[in-house]
Amino acid sequence: MSLKITFQGHAAFTFETGEHTLAVDPFITGNPLAEAAGLTRESISATHIALTHGHADHVGDTLEIATRCGSQLIAAFEICEWASEQGLEAVNPGNPGGRIDTDFGWIAFTQAFHSSSFEGRYMGMPCGLLINIGGTTVYHAGDTGLFSDMALIGELYKPDIAILPIGDRFTMGPEHASRAAEMIKPGLAIPCHYGTWPPIDIDPARFQPNGIDVLRLGAGESHVVD
Ligand code: NI
Ligand code: MN
Repeated sequence: MSLKITFQGHAAFTFETGEHTLAVDPFITGNPLAEAAGLTRESISATHIALTHGHADHVGDTLEIATRCGSQLIAAFEICEWASEQGLEAVNPGNPGGRIDTDFGWIAFTQAFHSSSFEGRYMGMPCGLLINIGGTTVYHAGDTGLFSDMALIGELYKPDIAILPIGDRFTMGPEHASRAAEMIKPGLAIPCHYGTWPPIDIDPARFQPNGIDVLRLGAGESHVVD
């Protein structure tokens, strides 16, 4: 099985197997990195959408894409309740510690040290996601500070790829994210959530975990796992 992972800017990624397309945190409209690269929400045809938490820079274009494509939404219970109220029918809720079997594999929810609200409404616990798709396991940490149980997450799920926020201020900065990667021990670490706006503009060269390969993707760039 092969998997095409495309960075859509900020914390947004798509995962394509040929049969299924999963969009994670599909914030395209109003995302300066995505817009500078000419990406549009219309270019995403997702069978599934997964959200790490309910902040606007992660919920993004979820409603438009899910309505247009009939995508199933996988997210925290409160996010799914909100989405149902907005008219989405296919929701698949979870919470930290839980795992859901999906058409493409499975998704497990982990803790993330952050917050989660949308237009003033509580959106449940912020999460990291372990995603098994196309024979590959990816840990998208969501927005989070560093926590030592990342070592346990690495031990339990043995992710091939870790997608980590490095932009500081709202999440780990590059030094803490380097420690995170060293604890998780993925085959490859992909940084995100930096450079989108001035408050999270950091030098990504500071993300330098010992003994872990790093792949920096620009918006619109892909990595293929065979
Ligand atoms: Ni956030
Ligand atoms: Mn964020």
